[in-house]
Amino acid sequence: MEKEIDENKQGESLVLEQKEENKRKLFIESYGCAMNFSDSEIVASIMSEQGFNTTQNLEEADLVLVNTCSIRDKAEQTVRKRLEKYNAVKRDTNPKMKVGVLGCMAERLKTKFLEEEKIVDLVVGPDAYKDLPNLLAEVDEGRDAINVILSKEETYGDVSPIRLNTNGVTAFVSITRGCDNMCTFCVVPFTRGRERSRDPQSIIEEINDLWNKGYKEITLLGQNVDSYLWYGGGLKKDFDKASDLQKATSVNFSKLLDLCAIAQPKMRIRFSTSNPQDLTLDVVETMAKHQNICNHIHLPVQSGSNRILKEMNRLHTREEYMQLIDNIRQIIPNCAISQDMIVGFPTETEDDFQDTVSLMEYVKYNFGYMFTYSERPGTMAARNMEDDVPEETKKRRLQDIVDLQRIHSEVRTKEWLNTTVEVLIEKESKKSNTQWSGRTPQNIVCVFPKGDYKVGDFVNVTVTNCTSATLIGEAIGLSENN
Ligand code: SAH
Ligand code: F3S
Repeated sequence: MEKEIDENKQGESLVLEQKEENKRKLFIESYGCAMNFSDSEIVASIMSEQGFNTTQNLEEADLVLVNTCSIRDKAEQTVRKRLEKYNAVKRDTNPKMKVGVLGCMAERLKTKFLEEEKIVDLVVGPDAYKDLPNLLAEVDEGRDAINVILSKEETYGDVSPIRLNTNGVTAFVSITRGCDNMCTFCVVPFTRGRERSRDPQSIIEEINDLWNKGYKEITLLGQNVDSYLWYGGGLKKDFDKASDLQKATSVNFSKLLDLCAIAQPKMRIRFSTSNPQDLTLDVVETMAKHQNICNHIHLPVQSGSNRILKEMNRLHTREEYMQLIDNIRQIIPNCAISQDMIVGFPTETEDDFQDTVSLMEYVKYNFGYMFTYSERPGTMAARNMEDDVPEETKKRRLQDIVDLQRIHSEVRTKEWLNTTVEVLIEKESKKSNTQWSGRTPQNIVCVFPKGDYKVGDFVNVTVTNCTSATLIGEAIGLSENN
């Protein structure tokens, strides 16, 4: 149930927008969260201007860029293994190849990377991608190059991403960068810097452009989307210093959702991720108001214990979270809700863990991503708390909640039996080439016989059967959304 693996889709790809005049070849791959995959599309766009087309073949790459994740130790180990692989390819078949590290590990390890990993020529943090042309010039001249400066303004709002690994139907649109929440376990505020929002105008333009290119669903991305706030640029934390006019004309997340939903009324709109302390009911009401905003909220809680929530610096209680869930369900009765959980945070007792279990029982999430605590250097938890829950205990607790979630997913999935759902077709089913696979607004995968339908169609499907995570059905016609 690891999110990285779920989202790690490189390989099965179709790459658009190759330029004939581009002579050099870029192999780019991404690990970690959706934001990294989205950032790689920005990087591919910047590199395209520098004469690079993308390739799927390491052996022919002039430049390899790996967009890295630091969220858990395991994510970093995965990247270290990839570096070994690049090393072997460079040694055996492709000596001209240069290697650059992007993303959160670049930011966290900085020059250490150049010292520890001989294969690495280039280290670029998440806010420095526009400096890639200069850095590359250094590398071309045989020097190592690094830029890990974090920015107060950079949102890449002016870069038009080159869609990688695309199905031509769904796309990510980033709306904020960085995070100001400082959850004590989390490395993101250190690797991605302070929170800033992107100009709503450029967001709408990107959505319009995607619609014109045939895309049917977008996911607005941010570490903490509900904290989106545009007042003309600048850090979220400096909003108090803005002028009265800036304050009066500012755009918050619910307003942004409204603008997006109106700009493209047939485009499905999703968003991720919501921190419960920042999700306000006007966002839920905006979701209810627009048919094209999907009824699904990814609402990580991390723990069901008030004491642990406090230690994590999550600024809400268990009771407030439960109230929020009740409110969401009252406003949008069929809203899917998903979770992230961490077990084995320092000092977590069996009673604390049982509070997580009972919270899960209360909510019965549609699905979730669950993790054992991984101490990250430099975070408040690492500095102030001993990583004192034994590994076996962490593993057992994780298995317990993974099993519980499977039961809940099944209960939730079964609720759709004998109903008709709208599915946006994304691709062929992995299990059968006679079936399509797509998702419902609630983000539940649904497969059904292909008939005359095609990728990108919105289809009404009657659900006849299901597994714990997948709906199985029969198409009964195109939905009115087409
Ligand atoms: N707001 C972010 C959260 C990023 S991290 C988002 O957009 O999703 C994703 C999930 O990883 C978190 O919700 C948390 O459950 C988990 N996580 C973060 N730091 C962790 C750590 N140190 N150990 C284990 N899991 C962690
Ligand atoms: Fe991390 Fe908490 Fe922000 S989990 S990304 S510090 S909301």
